[in-house]
Amino acid sequence: MPSPRVLNVYDNGALVGTDLIGSKGQGFIVDIDDERTLFDTGMRGRYLMHNLEKLRVDPESVDRVVLSHGHMDHTGGLPDFLEARETPVTVHAHPLFDQRKARGFKGLPYKPLSAPRLLPEQREKAVFRHIDAWTTLSDHMMVVTAPPLKEMDSLSERLLVKGPEGWTKDLMEDELSLALATEDGLVLVTGCCHRGILNLLSSVDEAFESPISAVVGGLHMGSYSEGDVDHMVDMLKKRHGLPGLYLNHCTGEDAVTRVRHNLGLDGVNEFYVGTELTMKTAANNIFIKKL
Ligand SMILES: [Fe+2]
Ligand SMILES: [Fe+2]
Repeated sequence: MPSPRVLNVYDNGALVGTDLIGSKGQGFIVDIDDERTLFDTGMRGRYLMHNLEKLRVDPESVDRVVLSHGHMDHTGGLPDFLEARETPVTVHAHPLFDQRKARGFKGLPYKPLSAPRLLPEQREKAVFRHIDAWTTLSDHMMVVTAPPLKEMDSLSERLLVKGPEGWTKDLMEDELSLALATEDGLVLVTGCCHRGILNLLSSVDEAFESPISAVVGGLHMGSYSEGDVDHMVDMLKKRHGLPGLYLNHCTGEDAVTRVRHNLGLDGVNEFYVGTELTMKTAANNIFIKKL
């Protein structure tokens, strides 16, 4: 098992000069505590399997899957991944992750976004475990559930979910993130962060003494104005000591440019397929709860 790391295996972009595939979606391999987690599967199974092979990740070496939310650009690769395995694997997801989801307009859905339905032979390879509260998966890895909506969320009237009342605005209550306890502090690995990065950081900060040292993933800031991005950067500095930013997927090019306008060219580390962030796990378990 390699040293603790977050390896990007699926993203909208891939490292240039490689034969890795970049395509809309997100997926990471997280190696920590001598265990391997696949956090999201991207949208297309064949691209996921291609990238895993090129990055020398044997599907059988994955100890668990965690799904950040139900959207298909994070879950669509699951059927092919399960099929490629010989043995069943635990799949952690929020109980609401398989609600029907869609892009829509004024409550009318026009583009499906739901997690894929599994064929019986794929279903046999998945042992689903629902997560609806913060859960420690290993000494240095914790699953964090959807943060309370306090400020600057990225929810949209155009992202819908089907509930008992029909199609309504999706509040993304199925959102899960990972918190990794490293020597430098907590590394947060996010899916789309639809509930808002500041809300996620606040909820983690309120719970633990350790600082947040890095944020890895998509921040879904496409709808943020320049002023919103400036405010977010300001809050990252003032409240959280400016964690390292390793952004990708749905963050949005304009938003990344604006963050760099504030923080300089290196203010955002690009994190495409093939890129990895290596870490040292904390000597002690640093999930120290605030009283
Ligand atoms: Fe996404
Ligand atoms: Fe999403």
